[in-house]
Amino acid sequence: MNDAERGLGSSIREVLFTQQTIATRVGELASAIAHDYKRRKPLVVGVLSGCFPLMADLVRGIDIPLEVDFMAVSSYGGNTVSSGVVRILKDLNQAIDGRDVLLVEDIVDTGLTLRYLLDNLQTRRPASVEVCTLLDKQEARTERLDARYVGFRCPNEFVVGYGLDYAGLYRNLPYIGVLKPEVYS
Ligand code: XMP
Ligand code: MG
Repeated sequence: MNDAERGLGSSIREVLFTQQTIATRVGELASAIAHDYKRRKPLVVGVLSGCFPLMADLVRGIDIPLEVDFMAVSSYGGNTVSSGVVRILKDLNQAIDGRDVLLVEDIVDTGLTLRYLLDNLQTRRPASVEVCTLLDKQEARTERLDARYVGFRCPNEFVVGYGLDYAGLYRNLPYIGVLKPEVYS
């Protein structure tokens, strides 16, 4: 039997963050962001594709005026190891000079993707750029950077679910977990 018959959960070795745990933490992040950005009308920028569940849950918890935009970058191809090669597949729809930008990421791993994005956005003269990431794999970091808002510290393992994929799959899992090793073979 496979995922199609037994459900996606049959490929998960271990659940790291349950649906409820994620919902509670995302609510806390949203409250902190609403407090910090009061009267600044931030531009909340989701980094596609992994950000989509977090963006949807997060912005609905931020009870102040804000705008939303998206960027898409490719950093991995089909691999599970960061290549450091970042390409912008979809850019912002608007200029950000003078804006308070909040970048929303699913996960910061080596930090190479974020480093590239931050450097790129800084050239456009925003008033500020901060980062909100659901997961922070600090052990894997090669770049010196910190996200202002972090959901959870993540062990240095490849994780899937809640937007995070393996080869395009598992983004629709409502929780975050580690795949069974046989899934990769
Ligand atoms: P870097 O290393 O540039 O990586 O900080 C950031 C991007 O890599 C992806 N990534 C993952 N995707 N499970 C995933 O599904 C993981 O454990 C993982 N680690 C990194 C992700 O797209 C992120 O934006
Ligand atoms: Mg990915």
